[in-house]
Amino acid sequence: MGSWLVMDATDSWLNVPALLRDPDAPLPQPWRDMFAPLRSGGVDDLMVVAQMGQSIDGRIATESGHSKYINGPAGLDHLHRLRAVVDAVVVGVGTAVADNPQLTVRRVSGPSPARVVIDPRGRLPASARMWASDGVRRIAIVGQDAKPKLPSGVDVLRVPLIAGRAAPAAILQALASAGLRRIMIEGGAHTVSGFLTAGCLDRLHIVVAPMLLGAGQPSVELKPVEFAHDALRPPVRAHLLADEVLFDIDLSRQRVVAGRANTSR
Ligand SMILES: NC(=O)c1ccc[n+]([C@@H]2O[C@H](COP(=O)([O-])OP(=O)(O)OC[C@H]3O[C@@H](n4cnc5c(N)ncnc54)[C@H](OP(=O)(O)O)[C@@H]3O)[C@@H](O)[C@H]2O)c1
Repeated sequence: MGSWLVMDATDSWLNVPALLRDPDAPLPQPWRDMFAPLRSGGVDDLMVVAQMGQSIDGRIATESGHSKYINGPAGLDHLHRLRAVVDAVVVGVGTAVADNPQLTVRRVSGPSPARVVIDPRGRLPASARMWASDGVRRIAIVGQDAKPKLPSGVDVLRVPLIAGRAAPAAILQALASAGLRRIMIEGGAHTVSGFLTAGCLDRLHIVVAPMLLGAGQPSVELKPVEFAHDALRPPVRAHLLADEVLFDIDLSRQRVVAGRANTSR
């Protein structure tokens, strides 16, 4: 685990990352409502949460792929809090290339999680910022035949591909076998949509920023339905984050069994 960056010793958030990992410890409010559901998954040993930041009109990036930053300070703090309570943060290689994110916890107190990229063809350059050698575990999930160019110390997990795609459940099993139990899928939309469609998410956090982009890359996409009454309507709880709204979407009813971690906390 990485270092704990303490922003404000009086912050009631300070001990939440440690408390959340102790199943018997009560969580203080307001964090309990938002984060207690992330303690454990409903169907197996894993808990998988995805997060997307989007405009009111459902865009996660401009047409050119620019997304830094759709969310304001409160939404970004929430993203860093999510990172601080999970064992691993996972991005698709599209996001790793487009945004070159660090994927560390910097805005709030808490440990940085393992950084994982789903990169079936092994195309992420060794210079990517998520590969920085800072003591935090780094993992590339690649196809069986990929020859990724990685800095030393980056672990490689290989998954079977069918038509270039890996089953999200196989990705979760690979992460579970590496001892990672609480997992956040941080984007982009393609990756999150794949996990959602496959029933591989326990929860989805969508943070809506008070802006209209008008055009750009859409947020999560599912197979079209003909009638509104056929839409997926999971239980949702809304939380106000300053001028942004967090929709905490409970997907546990459709979650498939994916794996059991070798170690768990
Ligand atoms: N607003 C937000 O919250 C937010 C968050 C993250 C990213 N973004 C934005 O989203 C954009 C990137 O998103 P994106 O949807 O284009 O890309 P993405 O989801 O980041 O990455 C997609 C790629 O990852 C690989 N991948 C993901 N799941 C896979 C699976 N199950 N099996 C095999 N390969 C898999 C594939 O790589 P290959 O192409 O090599 O097959 C796929 O094309 C950027 O503009 C970024 O700024 C916004």
